[in-house]
Amino acid sequence: MTITSDVRFARKYGPLTARTLASNVVREAKHRNRPRPVPPNIELTDFDPFDHATAADPYPRYRELLEGGPVHYNPHRSIFILTRYADVRAAARADHALSSADGVTYGRMKLPILITTDAPRHTRMRKQTMPGFTRGALESWRPMVDQLAARLVAGLLAQSPADVVSTLAVPMPMGMIAHILGIGDDDQAAFRQWSNDMVRVADINISKSGLREMVPALTGFRHMHAFFTEKLSKGELLGEDTILGRLTRHTEDGRLSYDEMFFIAVLLLLAGNETTTNLLSTLFLTLAENPDQLELLRRQPELIGSAIEEQLRFSSPVQSFYRTALVDYQVGSATIPKGARVLLAWGAANRDPRQFDDPDVFRAERNPTGHVAFGSGVHLCLGAQLARMEGSAVLREIVDNVERVEVVGEPTWTTNPNLRGLTRMNVALTPLQGRGTNHHY
Ligand code: HEM
Repeated sequence: MTITSDVRFARKYGPLTARTLASNVVREAKHRNRPRPVPPNIELTDFDPFDHATAADPYPRYRELLEGGPVHYNPHRSIFILTRYADVRAAARADHALSSADGVTYGRMKLPILITTDAPRHTRMRKQTMPGFTRGALESWRPMVDQLAARLVAGLLAQSPADVVSTLAVPMPMGMIAHILGIGDDDQAAFRQWSNDMVRVADINISKSGLREMVPALTGFRHMHAFFTEKLSKGELLGEDTILGRLTRHTEDGRLSYDEMFFIAVLLLLAGNETTTNLLSTLFLTLAENPDQLELLRRQPELIGSAIEEQLRFSSPVQSFYRTALVDYQVGSATIPKGARVLLAWGAANRDPRQFDDPDVFRAERNPTGHVAFGSGVHLCLGAQLARMEGSAVLREIVDNVERVEVVGEPTWTTNPNLRGLTRMNVALTPLQGRGTNHHY
């Protein structure tokens, strides 16, 4: 069964992978030999999301870009960059002119998943996926979210000082996605490994190290595909509260293929895992740097929801995604040429002073509705409510049980050019007097 499905999978998606790789290599070579001339009213920049220092802290560079004109061009990467709130939001909503079908990260990648398709296919797929994310579905997940948050914050308190990323920020969303998919405890370790390998597909770029990432990514894909095919063929993963069970019951023709279900699982892993990890890890840093805000939340816990929105604005877990211009695309008096790759910098837009007063200050009571941390338009994040629920549950546990959060040593940041968060941060938590055991762990 596994070998047959492996062969079928390779036959079906092998050529797609090879074509994707080849087209990236050709494009890159073409661009190196013949850099694109810069159109009028567009400013040159060396802002490079692949630069590790920039990925760790892009905000000083965003400020420069926000002070300049609306469109910047990096000739080395051949990317056009939008940073202003109004322009980023408008670009996200211009899906007829700016396509997601080449992938939303730098290397062009055609994956048959929701986030990387355009209408009319996207409209069809979104309709097919929506029943998995209804209010009812969300409420059925709440007890698990609360239980995980309580267990993980208590675990962090007990081990303090400890690395918040590996102890809480990674296991929380991974545990939730496994729960939503109905993956049993016995399979979770292998599932976690394959997902970690598989999601590297989003980081692949045409460099030696980028191509080296291909091998584990493809192996992860193969294992994960075999796992899903086997489980689904036995009728597993389709229970009452699992997402695939809900979707199977809601499809109009009553049937989703195993491959369609597999790619829905891939979508959840690519879109819902590291993003939420980044929200949770940076939340701890914000609380450590703004103890007065933790105090405020303790006095007014009704601000927890607003504080999560503010955290998403202040330290956007997805800093940017790409589009490809299907036509010449106008931004003010600048024209981004047809065929160009366009970077929509959600993280910069969320700190645009034209939209938010004192954008570099975290204010728990700000409630910045309208931020673009979850995107905007037809691709607006489907998991936003789940992410909010996870963030709020963890923050509630902190407010109820933790007096003070302190960072111990230097934290380290991801080098991912699109998703920003911590890879390691030791924190010392002081338990709230009168809660749990009253000594400093
Ligand atoms: C804090 C956590 C999260 C952030 C910041 C985030 C951010 C985003 C952003 C910016 C987009 C828009 C993509 C685009 O316009 O190209 C998006 C789309 C999406 N997200 Fe999230 N996300 C988060 C968590 C999740 C979770 C937990 C799930 C599911 C379990 C999820 C599922 C999706 C899906 C399915 C899409 C594609 C929607 C479409 O293309 O129609 N996300 N997300």
